[in-house]
Amino acid sequence: MKDILKAPFVEEMKKTTANMYRLGWDERNGGNISYLLDEREVGEYLDLKRVIRTIPTGFCAPSLAGKIFIVTGTGKYFKNVEKDPENNLGIIRISKDGKDAELLWGYSDGGKFTSELPAHLMSHAARLKVDPENRVVMHSHPTYTLAMNYVHELDEKKFTHTLWEMCTECIVVFPDGVGVLPWMLCGTNSIGEATAEKMKEFRLVIWAMHGIYGAGKTLDETFGLIETVEKAAQIYMLTAHLPRLNTIKDEDMVKLAEFFKVKYRKDFLNL
Ligand code: 13P
Ligand code: ZN
Repeated sequence: MKDILKAPFVEEMKKTTANMYRLGWDERNGGNISYLLDEREVGEYLDLKRVIRTIPTGFCAPSLAGKIFIVTGTGKYFKNVEKDPENNLGIIRISKDGKDAELLWGYSDGGKFTSELPAHLMSHAARLKVDPENRVVMHSHPTYTLAMNYVHELDEKKFTHTLWEMCTECIVVFPDGVGVLPWMLCGTNSIGEATAEKMKEFRLVIWAMHGIYGAGKTLDETFGLIETVEKAAQIYMLTAHLPRLNTIKDEDMVKLAEFFKVKYRKDFLNL
């Protein structure tokens, strides 16, 4: 067996959580990540027949039965993942009936997966139907995105339009726009179901006055989506109180979308 601590997916999780912490997006235990792994690859590092513990998830995800994820632990700090991955991360396999998580590695102090597992797994199930290559769901509390929630209308067309106006590349990076959920109690199956419903059409979902969810093929791609929203929100927050002299026009956004050949939400423009 190879050393799990040297596995590329553990290395990637260490780098990503450290980066997100460094950017101030994930204070204390804020934020969580789940990353769908390849069973054959995990089998090079772990005995897949050895289940350390079986942990009920509190919901049923039959379409994910047998799938293996590396997931951040509940109450664990992104700041600490790099120095102690075995305690702060876990590798779980969804049981045959879709109701339990079989712990294959990690959560070494007896902990368990993030309290936001419903939103993660339900979002994976929704995204996999749209894109079979989707592997990552990421939740974070990026500062300017959150600040924008307090001063901007929480309407997905208007919110997306404002973000698209803030940086030339926004409409190219997230042409599908940003879904918005009202404030809801986090950690519940209800917020999980609502997030997954939005994930059918968006790869980015704002949880009002809480944070953001992103989904993508890789950790890098998903991080990049959230990073681009956060950059746009930062520019908005730096300029919202100042007179606006210039702006990227809707006609310019159409030119961008057509030139870069992206399928964009035409109904989010005011043409
Ligand atoms: P966990 O510590 O359970 O992952 O929760 C953090 C969080 O961001 C809740 O939304
Ligand atoms: Zn959160």
